[in-house]
Amino acid sequence: MKDITIAIDGFSSTGKSTIAKELARKLEYIYVDSGAMYRAVTLYAMQNNLISKSYFHKDKLVQDLIKINLLFRYNSELGFAEIYLNDVNVEKEIRNIEVSELVSKVAEVSEVRRKLVQQQQQFGINKRVVMDGRDIGTVVFPNAELKIFMNASAEKRAQRRFDELTKRGDNVSFDEILKNIEYRDHIDSTREDSPLKIAKDAIFIDNSNLTLGEQFNKVYCLAQNSMNSN
Ligand code: CDP
Repeated sequence: MKDITIAIDGFSSTGKSTIAKELARKLEYIYVDSGAMYRAVTLYAMQNNLISKSYFHKDKLVQDLIKINLLFRYNSELGFAEIYLNDVNVEKEIRNIEVSELVSKVAEVSEVRRKLVQQQQQFGINKRVVMDGRDIGTVVFPNAELKIFMNASAEKRAQRRFDELTKRGDNVSFDEILKNIEYRDHIDSTREDSPLKIAKDAIFIDNSNLTLGEQFNKVYCLAQNSMNSN
């Protein structure tokens, strides 16, 4: 079996990270959540008063990029690597609705993208990586052996995210989640630098009516085929 690179892209809350995490575990590959990196940079900007709903000191954030150190540390209890921003575990905080509301603005900045893409490419230098995001198959790993693009209806996606956040105790409404998903879909797919689009050689999966198990089996079979092909 050959070592491959697996790129999973798609719209927000399509279950990409759940599938990618599980796939990496089963294949004994590294899993990288590229969205967590954009979220962590956004959290840094929030903590340093560089961004809010009413302002964005983009130039200052770009100047500060050198001070932002991101790393993933494997948590054996959870079975995946958690993200650290300047040595602080921010895995939970970056999933807040406040970060979700600002992250797509930060992800539009080319200097931010350049820094994060470079680090992402390093993670995949020896293949054996499953990475999910928006531009993994188009920009980060254009030569990935397996590219998957996931989508589902906005309502289904909002319901999944709503369930996830309320389960962990966040006080959010379904409407604000749906609005946020639609807002991010729009910015992510219309931005100038690395917009979310389906790579020519990606396999499209609409998972509106698939269970997680069905979705996983589909992706796992695709990975097996790709690892076994020449
Ligand atoms: O979890 P969810 O699918 O909602 O989003 P995420 O994967 O955590 O990504 C958060 C945001 O980061 C996205 O809405 C994009 O604006 C940005 N992002 C990006 O621009 N490029 C990536 N490769 C990954 C995320």
